[in-house]
Amino acid sequence: MKLSPCIGLIASACAVLGTSTSGTPGIRNIFTFPKNHFIENIAVRANSKLLVTSMSVPDLFSIDPTIPNPTAPIVHTFPNCTGIAGIAEVIPDLFALVTGTWDLANTRAALGSLHVWTIDFNQSPPFTKFITVVANSTILNGLARHPTNPTLLMAADSAAGSVWRINLLTGSSSVAFSSPLLEPTGTAMEGLHLGINGLRSLGAYLYFTNSAQKFFGKVAVDFFGNKIGNIQVISNSTAAGANVVYDDIALDVNPITGKGEAWIASHPDYAVKVPVGISGAQTVVKNATLLLNPTSAAFGRGSAKERKTLYVTNGGEFTPEFDLINEGVVALDF
Ligand SMILES: *[C@@H]1O[C@H](CO)[C@@H](O)[C@H](O)[C@H]1NC(C)=O
Ligand SMILES: *[C@@H]1O[C@H](CO)[C@@H](O)[C@H](O)[C@H]1NC(C)=O
Ligand SMILES: *[C@@H]1O[C@H](CO)[C@@H](O)[C@H](O)[C@H]1NC(C)=O
Ligand SMILES: *[C@@H]1O[C@H](CO)[C@@H](O)[C@H](O)[C@H]1NC(C)=O
Repeated sequence: MKLSPCIGLIASACAVLGTSTSGTPGIRNIFTFPKNHFIENIAVRANSKLLVTSMSVPDLFSIDPTIPNPTAPIVHTFPNCTGIAGIAEVIPDLFALVTGTWDLANTRAALGSLHVWTIDFNQSPPFTKFITVVANSTILNGLARHPTNPTLLMAADSAAGSVWRINLLTGSSSVAFSSPLLEPTGTAMEGLHLGINGLRSLGAYLYFTNSAQKFFGKVAVDFFGNKIGNIQVISNSTAAGANVVYDDIALDVNPITGKGEAWIASHPDYAVKVPVGISGAQTVVKNATLLLNPTSAAFGRGSAKERKTLYVTNGGEFTPEFDLINEGVVALDF
C-alpha cells in the first residue's frame, strides 16, 4: 500500500476546515433508500461524492450530493457479510471499512465475521483488498485512521470498551487500549449496549463518543496507538437533552490548536453542535421529520458550498410492521 504524502494529518484535515456556523440550519433530503437499509456511516471523497454504508446490506453506495435528485449506485458488494459498519479514509481516496454478519436487533456481529477491507478509488474500477479478520470482537463501530501513522486503522469496540489497532500493511490486529470510560452500561436497551461508538482522529488525538455513558471526549495516542494520559470529557449529552444519545461525529477543529466545534449525529432526532477546546453551550438541532435516528455525520468536500454542508446519515424509523423506512442522507446547510 502506498503511504500518504499527508502524513501527520488525516486526509480531511489536509483540506480546509474553516467552516463556521450560526443560526438554525435548513435541512434538505439528499437521498432516501428503499425500506430496510439501516444506514450506518459516511465518508466523503475529495471529489465530493458521499460513500454510505448500510448494516443491512453488503453494498457500499456512492451518492453525488452536488446534483439534483441523485441516485445511489452500488460501488461494490462485499462477500460473506450481511452489512457494512464503519468507513474511514486512510490515504487519499483509499478507504478502510468493516463488514460483518450482523444481528441488528442487538447491534453485534457473529464472532469471526468482522472483516477489514480497503477500497482504492485511485484505480478504476475501484480496487478492493481484504486486510484481515478481527476474530475476537463482536462489534467494530466507528473507524478512524490513526492521526499520525497511516498504516494503522483504529476501531471502536462498543461492546468490549476498547480501541483496536489494525495494521493495514500486515493485517495484524490487537487491542490498543481499554477503559471503563469506553464501556457500555447495559445490554439491549437503546443506546446503553453501545459504549465507545463514533471515532475520529485529529492532531494527536482520537475523538470519540460513548453513547451509553452519554459523553463526547478525546484521548491522546502515541505513534503505535497506545493511550497517552487520561481520557478527557468534552461534553455530556445530558446537557443537550435528557434523551439525547450521541452517535458519530464530524469534526471542524483546528488540528494544531484543538479549537473548533464538533457536530454529533444523535438519536432519536438531533444533530448537536459542541464547542471543542473553547467554552460555550451545545447547540441542539431537532427535527423529527428529517432527522430520523441520525447515525453519522461528515462535512462535504470540494467547493466552498460543499465544505459548509454537513451530511447526516439517518438510520431510519420503524413502521408498525417493523419495516425500517426513510433511511438515507440529509444535508444541513449553514
Ligand atoms: C425540519 O426541517 C425542515 C427543513 O429545514 C423544516 O421545513 C421543518 O419545519 C422542520 N421540521 C421540524 C419538525 O422541525
Ligand atoms: C467466503 O466464505 C467462504 C465459505 O466460508 C470461503 O470459502 C471464502 O473464502 C470466503 N470469501 C472471502 C472473500 O472471504
Ligand atoms: C478475546 O477477548 C476476551 C474478552 O475481551 C479476552 O479475555 C481474551 O483474552 C481475548 N483473546 C484473544 C486471543 O485476544
Ligand atoms: C453526564 O451527566 C449525567 C447527568 O448529570 C451524569 O450522571 C454523568 O455522570 C455525566 N457523564 C460524564 C461522563 O460526565
